[in-house]
Amino acid sequence: MADDRPIGVFDSGVGGLTVLRALRELLPLERTVYLGDTARVPYGTRSAATVEKYALNNARTLVQEGDIKALVVACNTASAVALPALRATLSVPVLGVIEPGARAALAACRGGTIVVLGTAGTVRSEAYPRALHALGHRGEVFARACPLLVPLVEEGWLAGEVPRLVVEQYLQGLPADVDTVVMGCTHYPLLRPVLRAALPERVALVDGAAATARELHALLAERGLARGGPAPAHRLLVTDAPEQLARVSGAFLGVPVAQDAVELVDVLMTA
Ligand code: DGL
Repeated sequence: MADDRPIGVFDSGVGGLTVLRALRELLPLERTVYLGDTARVPYGTRSAATVEKYALNNARTLVQEGDIKALVVACNTASAVALPALRATLSVPVLGVIEPGARAALAACRGGTIVVLGTAGTVRSEAYPRALHALGHRGEVFARACPLLVPLVEEGWLAGEVPRLVVEQYLQGLPADVDTVVMGCTHYPLLRPVLRAALPERVALVDGAAATARELHALLAERGLARGGPAPAHRLLVTDAPEQLARVSGAFLGVPVAQDAVELVDVLMTA
């Protein structure tokens, strides 16, 4: 039985589009409804309790607006602190991006140190070291918060001197034996070329988007939730400044996004 309901996806802003793109590529028949909480971005500098509350607001909004059949938390900061509360509250399956990100890092790692770049909240939560060690990583994990990268991406400032200097500064003093760097924030893959250029060639640079899409694919198949044709419709929602998401998302998703295709919504604040 095909399930026509969409997949719900949220992030604090445009970063989750990196995951949305991977989902659309792997699952071209699935409908999606994406919520960027642009009124409250960034999440990475906020407390775990606040991020959990925001995540619950976003999830309820997606359930109400989109009648979703599964939720992908396309935000590492929210995945690090809010998955238990989301799973306890929602009746649909919930996937985060940290375990897939850790899997991608492990697949690339050749025995050296894994470096996790993320928001302050993700680093503080220690969710990556926990996930990596639970998956069998025996080496070191070194985490670094890169708080200026999220506003750069939200502004669409993805190339040139300013991102280059900021990235170089954040990558200073990494452990000498680093062989894998995981982009532990869904905004960072938008800066991949800048990060790549600042790292030695021998270092693998990975993120969890494709692994998250594969996990969703398996989950939909296992629970009989997959959709068949015809070509699906997608929705993009934001809590503020739709023109900003339209501007950055078109280029990134590889399909033009008209400004009036991005809908403004209020998140549901109620329990
Ligand atoms: N893109 C999100 C993440 O993966 C949140 C970034 C932020 O809002 O600080 O952590």
